[in-house]
Amino acid sequence: MSDLHDNPLDDPASDPFEVAAAAAADIARLTGVEHHDIALTLGSGWGKAAELIGETVAAFPATEVTGFSKPALEGHVGTLRSVRTPRGKHVLVIGARTHFYEGHGVRRVVHSVRTAAATGARTMVLTNGAGGIKHTWQPGRPVLISDHLNLTAASPLEGATFIDLTDLYSMRLRDLARTIDPSLDEGVYCQFRGPQYETPAEVQMAKILGGHIVGMSTALEAIAARQSGMEILGFSLITNMAAGIQTTPLSHQEVIDAGREAEPVISSLLARVIGAM
Ligand code: HPA
Repeated sequence: MSDLHDNPLDDPASDPFEVAAAAAADIARLTGVEHHDIALTLGSGWGKAAELIGETVAAFPATEVTGFSKPALEGHVGTLRSVRTPRGKHVLVIGARTHFYEGHGVRRVVHSVRTAAATGARTMVLTNGAGGIKHTWQPGRPVLISDHLNLTAASPLEGATFIDLTDLYSMRLRDLARTIDPSLDEGVYCQFRGPQYETPAEVQMAKILGGHIVGMSTALEAIAARQSGMEILGFSLITNMAAGIQTTPLSHQEVIDAGREAEPVISSLLARVIGAM
């Protein structure tokens, strides 16, 4: 059977938290690590951080873990790793993101976050590559996420689950990141559904609404992380100026190239921030 038809999350009668618990048990078995402290999702450009955080205890394809989908995109490595920091913290590094635009539903999008929480992680670090709205942000620049606009019209919450999202992106962790790099700017991340890039008019709309960063991930994951009681740190790599801010057409190749170029610098920043946690 294909992956599309054998994922327990696709059964509306399944409990996504039970599926996450089963996934966490798979991870404990595959890594020999019973409890993780921190989870990190790697977006475009952030991949090298995995090697810099500490010693890799185990690495395996995400598809060996209950509920995980095959990666849809080149540049999104479908690997999970357990890494031990020099201070002895266990970090679950998630190199396998399912995007909302893949159309497999929000449960699959947030499964990695719920699994991370089920492994014991209390801190969720979400990274992505994104378009920048602020004119002063050049491609290659990492920025902190201070808040978000969820423009997907979707939610990972099912039923009357009223969750407070004040200080969703932890001020404490943003301040910690700025102790490592005081020049870090921050902004409001707008999650669009994608996969098409925004029109210039949509970018202007996001700007008028108070947005500074446009992308296709993260906000839904952050909501699920908050539901699971995790403290959240969000980082965007500005891979391009958003549509209409830059006058040239956007391309996926441009995003990949900007990520590749910035990778050594931003990965080392991220590793130092995680090392300070
Ligand atoms: N928009 C949406 N997603 C993106 C962009 C963008 O400009 N760049 C990288 N991911």
